Amino acid sequence: MFMSEDSLINTASLISPHISLVDASSRAPVKLGIMASGNGSNFEVVAQAIEDGKLNAQIQVLIYNNPSAKAAVRAKNRGVESVLLNHRDYPSREEFDRQIVQTLHQYEVEWVIMAGWMRLVSQVLIDAFPNKMINIHPSLLPSFKGVRAVEQALEAGVKITGCTVHLLCLEMDSGPILMQAAVPVLPDDTPETLHGRIQVQEHRILPLAIALAAQK
Ligand code: GRF
Repeated sequence: MFMSEDSLINTASLISPHISLVDASSRAPVKLGIMASGNGSNFEVVAQAIEDGKLNAQIQVLIYNNPSAKAAVRAKNRGVESVLLNHRDYPSREEFDRQIVQTLHQYEVEWVIMAGWMRLVSQVLIDAFPNKMINIHPSLLPSFKGVRAVEQALEAGVKITGCTVHLLCLEMDSGPILMQAAVPVLPDDTPETLHGRIQVQEHRILPLAIALAAQK
């Protein structure tokens, strides 16, 4: 018997690995720096997970590179300090990244979370936080790297896509995978509807993956 689309949406999210969180409440909160370029819904869920006591961390600073990023408004509303670093003001990717590193160090950041950061990073940034940078991407990597990942999935005709949280390395959207969630592609999906359902899963796995990697 076929399941209805509704029940498919409700049941067919598979998150892996399945983790039960360690009780990290007796340890010092992990100091996070979040980097975002746009809407900032992933920033918001990390902040909310902290507020709800599900993630033993504190957000030291939000760095954003786009003056109109809604993420900055969200940070302000939550009393999180934010710093605008506009890449257009720097002569090279390396110079830009040096300023990012300086800011992250100034705020005593231990782990860096790229939550919708739409810039390629250089070795300068990777070297400053080796194996301590986390990225979220709206596909099941290694499929559909780069921009327009949701459109790429629709164009390829895949029936299942999803999202991936991974450690950052120099090669774009690569690096060890921490956690993934699968999302079914429905016949009438547009990039917007599919991305919307992928984001529901992003919001579930990003705080879990940060806890998995950083709360050791
Ligand atoms: C997410 O889909 C993330 O996977 C991608 O950019 C989007 C950011 O969304 N890297 P938001 O700004 O957190 O709402």
